[in-house]
Amino acid sequence: MSTSSSEGNGRDRFHRRVFEGKAAVFAIATTLAISAGGLVEIIPMFTTTSASWERADWITPYTPLEVAGRDIYIREGCNVCHSQMIRPMRAEILRYGEWTRAAEYQYDRPFLLGSRRLGPDLQREGGKYPDAWHYEHMRDPRTTSPGSVMPPYPWLHRNQIDPVDVARSIRALARVGTPYEATDDAAVEASLREQGGAITASLATSSLDANWDDEIVALIAYLQRLGVEGRAYLAEQEEDR
Ligand code: HEC
Repeated sequence: MSTSSSEGNGRDRFHRRVFEGKAAVFAIATTLAISAGGLVEIIPMFTTTSASWERADWITPYTPLEVAGRDIYIREGCNVCHSQMIRPMRAEILRYGEWTRAAEYQYDRPFLLGSRRLGPDLQREGGKYPDAWHYEHMRDPRTTSPGSVMPPYPWLHRNQIDPVDVARSIRALARVGTPYEATDDAAVEASLREQGGAITASLATSSLDANWDDEIVALIAYLQRLGVEGRAYLAEQEEDR
């Protein structure tokens, strides 16, 4: 073995002299080198403000009824079984539609990306089925999807949302930057009644009896808007190309 001769040469080399031979200098240099990657990620996180990112005007904030439905979705833990993220892969696009763009999440607080798919992805669920389908499916998934392992949620058809609670959610979202114009209790309740009324009218055409403030109505409002604006916008972009 020629260890001794190679060590002899090595001692003269620059990096051996300046770094490896001096423990303190070497420790500082490695610390700097290792933190470079971290700093590149951390510094922008503290320096960007909401004014410095661009809003996509093709995504609008959730309406009060949709926020109420989203709060129910979170409460019931739907995101444990359902993801909301279509990946740019052929099989996913064929099954769920156009892959999800980052801007589509701009008003999602908190994110509901999900990490498991026991059920299908729901990011573009809006418009896939009629309101009445969701009403029946949530009451007993096996009536619409034979053999489904999704649990039934019959209490959503019995319980009501509280407009005052929804107004609180809207004000909380407004405080962290979602651009809502009217956040007072009266305006929020008027909006809930209007959108809820439209959904109960659509359910009535299938002989289903519901009230504007039933939890199931709010959940349907939320599910029916998922991915719809993004789908319309992306289809338009496709045509322009
Ligand atoms: C234990 C896992 C599980 C949970 C929890 C769960 N689901 Fe599901 N979900 C499924 C499975 C499996 C399917 C596919 C079979 C079916 O249609 O029922 C499904 C299907 C669906 C569909 C139809 C999707 C499509 O495009 O065909 C919707 C909508 C849905 N779930 C909504 C919800 C909502 C809202 C909640 C929470 C209140 C929820 N799920 C909770 C497992 C789950």
